[in-house]
Amino acid sequence: MRNSLAYSSARSLITSAKIFLDANENSLGSVLGEVAGVELNRYPDPFAENLRKELARYVKVKPNQILVGNGSDEIIWLLLLSFVEANEEILTFTPTFSMYRVFANLLGLRVREASLEKDFSLDAEKFLAAISKKTKLVFLCSPNNPTGRTIPLADVEKILRAKKIVVVDEAYIEFSPQKSVVPLLKKYSNLVILRTFSKAWGLAGLRVGYGLMDSQIVEILAKVRSPYSVDALSQKLAEKALNLQKKMEAGVQKILAEREKLAGKLRDLGLTVFLSDANFLLIKFSPEINATKIYENLIKKYGIVARDFSAKKSLENCLRITVGSPTENTKLISAIKKILK
Ligand SMILES: Cc1ncc(COP(=O)(O)O)c(C=O)c1O
Repeated sequence: MRNSLAYSSARSLITSAKIFLDANENSLGSVLGEVAGVELNRYPDPFAENLRKELARYVKVKPNQILVGNGSDEIIWLLLLSFVEANEEILTFTPTFSMYRVFANLLGLRVREASLEKDFSLDAEKFLAAISKKTKLVFLCSPNNPTGRTIPLADVEKILRAKKIVVVDEAYIEFSPQKSVVPLLKKYSNLVILRTFSKAWGLAGLRVGYGLMDSQIVEILAKVRSPYSVDALSQKLAEKALNLQKKMEAGVQKILAEREKLAGKLRDLGLTVFLSDANFLLIKFSPEINATKIYENLIKKYGIVARDFSAKKSLENCLRITVGSPTENTKLISAIKKILK
């Protein structure tokens, strides 16, 4: 485990201060003035205390169990940096979100990937058998990107009992009919949950994600993080967003309805559409149709960008499509129809 001193700015230790001459900021103010009530000439709160308080209310954990990051990507990076050494490994399954592997490779860490079943479900017993002495972190993406399936709570719990640090990436949980694994935090100090403002909250441009975990793990990760990775404007806007939970939930319902409509239309075109608990659909073309050609034609002729997974084992001839706005989905269906003709 890497060890360094947690960053602490002089300011975070002094609550009564009125005049700030400690951080070489510009005391005349920002050239933009205040934006959304934020004084941009000041460095942001490195601990995002206000945002953590709001998040604690939303997810029903204590503020000291929350770490806010520059997207949940940053927290994946911090977990790898803090808990895995070069000759040790992470365990995940395939197919899944690629950043676990990408970041692990960048750090020279070993990645072991267990295969999902043909229907993209996870066989927890088989997965447990892939855990070795060298396994330091386990990544479970649920709902999984790009398959859309949520891992049953009982299976997550089985994996937690192996006593490794288990990261459950819930980037898409707001779209899932299954509840979050948050209640398991009370029972398992080896559980880390990743969440993001990039999906259901519609704030991918802000770059705010957060992790929920035992407060001791928060402290370990805080030691290796860059203190100002989450800017002041993003912190403030994420706080504001949390007060609009009803609006987020209404948006989720609209996306779910749109997803089902889109799935029906794609099935009508003869495509295999996998069940999804997220805001995207994984679709498979029959063998006589080349998914990559469809993908390329969608871009070239219609300016529609999907994600081509055909080259990936177990995702042969598959594309992943994000559920768009009603107009975008209508255009997508019409484009696929024309290409298939
Ligand atoms: C499963 C999963 N986790 C994490 C992320 C990254 O989220 P963020 O925007 O918070 O970095 C994504 C983004 O696509 C994702 O699909």
